[in-house]
Amino acid sequence: MSLYHIYFSPTGGVKQVSDALLEGLGRPDKQIHLLNQVYLANLALQPGDLCLVAVPCFYGRVPDYVREKLSQLSGHGAFAIAVIVYGNGEYGDSLLELRDILESCDLRVIAAVSAIAQHAIFSQYGKGRPNAEDKACLKDYALRIKQHLATGHFGALNLKGHAPYHDKHHLSICPQAKGDCTNCMKCVEECPVQAIPRENPRCVDKSRCISCMHCVSICPEHARTLNQAVLFVIARALKINYNEPKNNTLILSEREDKAVQEV
Ligand SMILES: Cc1cc2nc3c(=O)[nH]c(=O)nc-3n(C[C@H](O)[C@H](O)[C@H](O)COP(=O)(O)O)c2cc1C
Ligand code: SF4
Ligand code: SF4
Repeated sequence: MSLYHIYFSPTGGVKQVSDALLEGLGRPDKQIHLLNQVYLANLALQPGDLCLVAVPCFYGRVPDYVREKLSQLSGHGAFAIAVIVYGNGEYGDSLLELRDILESCDLRVIAAVSAIAQHAIFSQYGKGRPNAEDKACLKDYALRIKQHLATGHFGALNLKGHAPYHDKHHLSICPQAKGDCTNCMKCVEECPVQAIPRENPRCVDKSRCISCMHCVSICPEHARTLNQAVLFVIARALKINYNEPKNNTLILSEREDKAVQEV
């Protein structure tokens, strides 16, 4: 059995959650960051392999960019763990959507995790998470998933959410650089969708940008920022309670004789 880790972590929260899960699951044989130019069709998954797939929730959904990448996978009946990481608001239909994407790639999703990380745009939400308590909890989830896997009997994985999933937001939250930019080109090279023009890295192509905030998090000059007026308006429009700390959750697929378990 090989362990694969496929993840998308533009600002590092998803990676921290995955690493805590891997503490319990073991060292992966192969790790693939979807931020890089990768073609998942080349991945030779086999029945009996286990694939940890961890991605962020954007607006209660799986980001389109991630959906397109994952749909290249051929699972060949391998097992999968679906992980959604969100910024202490709500994860909406994203966990259900991730399960459906993976199942449509011929993966057998036997467990799902939702976990909190610091919000990539509004850093006051989920601040400092995953913290030590979260990491211990996630490691414990991984051990439970391993026990579940050892039973060898897997039924349906029932998750909250609805298909058709709710509509996507199309908010234009695209970072641009201020005068501190030194033209180092780091953001140009690392933007997953090539939205930053080499001839003027202070700008952004809004038709391409997926608002992932990777460029903001890696700019050595901290030059890339968001329009504060736009942020203020969005923050006021957030209807969900982002302040109250949310819990991580683990959902295991039904065993043949047991109901779904959420812990
Ligand atoms: C464009 C965008 C949309 C987001 N939408 C949500 C959301 O609907 N609910 C929520 O709780 N967090 C939301 N977040 C927060 C992310 O899910 C969270 O910051 C996650 O940790 C990002 O992964 P990363 O840290 O690996 O980049 C959003 C973040 C971004 C950048
Ligand atoms: S990473 Fe920052 S300093 Fe470098 S080109 Fe981009 S905006 Fe400019
Ligand atoms: S320009 Fe947009 S898509 Fe590219 S790294 Fe920055 S936020 Fe992400």
